[in-house]
Amino acid sequence: MSEKLATLSFSDGTPSVDFPVLGGTVGPEVIDVRALYAKTGKFTYDPGFMSTASCRSNITYIDGDQGILQYRGYPIEQLAEHCDFLEVAYLILNGELPNQEQKATFVDIIKHHTMVHEQLSRFYSGFRRDAHPMAVLCGVVGALSAFYHDSIDIHDARSREISAFRLIAKLPTITAMTYKYSVGQPFRYPKNSLSYVENFLYMMFGTPCEDYTPNPVLTRAMERILILHADHEQNASTSTVRLAGSTGANPFACISAGIASLWGPAHGGANEAVLKMLAEIDDAKNIPAFIKRVKEKDGHAMLMGFGHRVYKNYDPRAKIIQKTCHEVLEELDLKDDKLFKLAIALEKVALEDDYFVKRKLYPNVDFYSGIVYKALSIPVSMFTAIFALARTVGWIAQWNELISDPDQKIGRPRQLFMGATRREFVPMNKRK
Ligand code: CMC
Repeated sequence: MSEKLATLSFSDGTPSVDFPVLGGTVGPEVIDVRALYAKTGKFTYDPGFMSTASCRSNITYIDGDQGILQYRGYPIEQLAEHCDFLEVAYLILNGELPNQEQKATFVDIIKHHTMVHEQLSRFYSGFRRDAHPMAVLCGVVGALSAFYHDSIDIHDARSREISAFRLIAKLPTITAMTYKYSVGQPFRYPKNSLSYVENFLYMMFGTPCEDYTPNPVLTRAMERILILHADHEQNASTSTVRLAGSTGANPFACISAGIASLWGPAHGGANEAVLKMLAEIDDAKNIPAFIKRVKEKDGHAMLMGFGHRVYKNYDPRAKIIQKTCHEVLEELDLKDDKLFKLAIALEKVALEDDYFVKRKLYPNVDFYSGIVYKALSIPVSMFTAIFALARTVGWIAQWNELISDPDQKIGRPRQLFMGATRREFVPMNKRK
């Protein structure tokens, strides 16, 4: 079959040029414009990458119109139902679900990388106790590059694999240490008898005076949250990791860059913003006034936890997390939780309101995740840090895919320059 082409024509008589149209295994075709500048002397203009595929990837597929999310081809609903987080991590990293033996080996490797260098714990005391956990995470994860020189040869596949193990294993320890530091409690060392998620909860909530006994319903809820956040194709933080990685920077520095990007309220910081918004609304009777402010874009008011660049339908993760939210609140006898009831009422109003319907704004993963975190006694400021813990799997898999791609080039966008053209220097005494 002959190659499919897209023809670009100009209104000023410049000759038309053809570009190959590439097809993926599923999803929209893409026009390969790599030769555009060479052929026409022109660039494309696409702020926010609204129509730009920045890479080829085999990891995660999203159909935003239909509300579909798949890791390596498997629907998120099936993975969230049947797998634990490490099984999903293995899948994302390696492309296939592990068999029993592969899973046992992987779990064992991760378990034996959970401790951090003792000197790393001293970094924490350089931070104020009230530092935002994301500020601490950016610093401490970036600092890992100063501890693990033996695994930062990015051109060696085994080195990259070891860095992946280290990051996935140490992020729960580092995240829990961030929390412990903020509340002034001693750090808990990881315990190898526990599962990955139990261990995280133990390091968060155990103290030397009182051990933490994991509750299976809460552990399962945390597993689900981590699975749902593990990867999401080329979002802002993943693109940040890829861009940093394209320069040859070491993996720990790249993940630290991803954490910084995730922090923003339009991205990972939204779960924190949802709880702040619910607290501000306070009562169902104030919903109409709040929705009015949002619709009038009064003071940049937004319905946090709603809307998504890709999903123009219900975010499939939001459905799963809403169910998990019910289970957790039931287990903890919090069915009448004020925030949960308020969130349900707010969701109902928004889903029936023309403003949101017309713009295809539906709840995203963050709308209910904050309520689950809160029920698990996780403080609001830690929400995005836990998102980072989960997303580390996706980031490192995407980074590895980038480095292994023979077409990989340093990421270097161009611009439409709108500033001053050349002018002569004016000495200080002649300036107005
Ligand atoms: N509340 C009110 N209006 C909204 C919202 C919202 N949450 N989201 C989008 N809109 C409006 C927006 O003002 C615009 O209206 P108009 O056409 O009148 O100018 C229209 O909907 C299209 O929005 P957009 O800003 O062009 O959409 P985008 O794709 O650039 O932004 C988004 C996507 C996620 C940044 C945005 O929806 C948002 O800021 N939502 C709230 C924050 C949030 O929940 N983020 C979590 C995303 S999921 C987790 C993750 O992946 O990190």
